[in-house]
Amino acid sequence: MSRQKFVNRKSELEFLKRAYNSERAEFLVVYGRRRIGKTELLLHFARDKPHIYFLATEKPYRDNLKELQRLLAEFLEDELFGKVIFDDIDELLMAFADRIGDERVILILDEFPLLVEHYRPVLSLLQKAWELKLSKTKIMLILCGSSVSAMETDVLGYRSPLYGRRTGQWRLTEIPFFHIGEFLPGYTIEELVKVWSITGGIPAYLLQFSPDKSFDENVVQNVLSKGTFLYEEAEFLLREELREPANYFAILQAIASGRSKFGEIVGTTGLDKSLVSKYLSVLQRLGIVEREVPITASIKEASKRGLYSIADNYFAFWFRYVLPNKSYLEAGLAEEVWKRSAEDFNTYMGSVFERLVRTPEVFFKLMGFRFTKLGRWWHKSEEIDLLALNEREKKALFVEVKWKELKEREAKGILKDLERKSELVGLDNWEKSYGLIAKRIEGKERLRDEGWLVWDLKDFERLIGKNDKK
Ligand SMILES: Nc1ncnc2c1ncn2[C@@H]1O[C@H](COP(=O)(O)OP(=O)(O)OP(=O)(O)O)[C@@H](O)[C@H]1O
Ligand SMILES: [Mg+2]
Repeated sequence: MSRQKFVNRKSELEFLKRAYNSERAEFLVVYGRRRIGKTELLLHFARDKPHIYFLATEKPYRDNLKELQRLLAEFLEDELFGKVIFDDIDELLMAFADRIGDERVILILDEFPLLVEHYRPVLSLLQKAWELKLSKTKIMLILCGSSVSAMETDVLGYRSPLYGRRTGQWRLTEIPFFHIGEFLPGYTIEELVKVWSITGGIPAYLLQFSPDKSFDENVVQNVLSKGTFLYEEAEFLLREELREPANYFAILQAIASGRSKFGEIVGTTGLDKSLVSKYLSVLQRLGIVEREVPITASIKEASKRGLYSIADNYFAFWFRYVLPNKSYLEAGLAEEVWKRSAEDFNTYMGSVFERLVRTPEVFFKLMGFRFTKLGRWWHKSEEIDLLALNEREKKALFVEVKWKELKEREAKGILKDLERKSELVGLDNWEKSYGLIAKRIEGKERLRDEGWLVWDLKDFERLIGKNDKK
């Protein structure tokens, strides 16, 4: 199989390069959700530079330490270094520091939280080695880990012995939408939005889709079929990251089935209020769940009016289409399930498309509107899909998002209604404009001539085209 080319990650590489060129000891922390591409990024960055890549494993701490020592000896091309008996990791790293002198060396400790899990003192031992020796060399030490909770608490947290030692940190996020086409050459924009609705911008998931198969074939064969990676992944991840997966399951299931208010989630799961609240905040920290409030809500209102939704596309899809159909899917009826889901999938796409347009990057690229706030607005039964505010200049852009093909008349109807709804928001004296985004809009040019802002998937295409020119 030909090696997949490395996609995007421009700002991440820039961040690493700047640190690399700094002429001082660097202590970086790189972390992020599993499968997001941390290891790939670090190896890609380090490949043409002197580096040691160490991957911690589930093995006992002492075995890990031995492996690290072996790698350091290999790097130093010194067999003897591999045979010295070191008391612990601090001594090992300090001896290594003495040996590298002023050389710029990258030392990557991947899956660092596994070491901490087995042996907590590793945190203060590392701190000691850093203070006494490493910080005086030109080492570039990179701690990497996928357990977001462990990295944020044990490594970055203010109670951690390592607190304040780092010279930089980066939480790696998804590949931006405008680059996911590079994983699936030949896919149309519409297909890419659909793929995104299942994989998000997570490289490992995008790689499960084969560019040689149609979208539907991919879903049936690589997501809904028992035993495949994406079929199993959600359960695997939740078990791995969380202590009481069953309760998290219940909460995510409730949200996926449309319970978006706190009270509804409590009611459906039957769990204690304080527990639900605790679990929801963990899920939010992990980026699996998000809580939205109407964009214009005051702080007091915001505390009461939040709506929960699943923010991670893969989880959203899995909880909507895999979990509820498990008994059919286990029986090998993936194709039937997918056929039966067609109409609902279209509804699902509606909310996913809204989410896509609401990502700041896509929004700004598409509309070029400078905003200080971006979000949704709702009140009673009225709702606006997207509202961007520029609070300094008192400008507001109201947008409706439809996963549909619209005739000119329909489009105009939607825009007129949007104009009416905008009056309910209460931004008197603001400069207002109105926009509509859909799969396809007939008579787009004429609507534009009349002063409406309209975009469809063709405009996305144009942006990707621009992006690809190097
Ligand atoms: N920028 C990229 N371009 C192309 N492929 C990528 C990119 N980033 C990651 N991948 C691929 O995606 C998969 C997952 O990436 P990787 O193993 O680096 O993730 P990770 O964050 O280290 O995951 P884990 O937490 O599970 O270790 C790998 O197959 C990798 O080759
Ligand atoms: Mg990794």
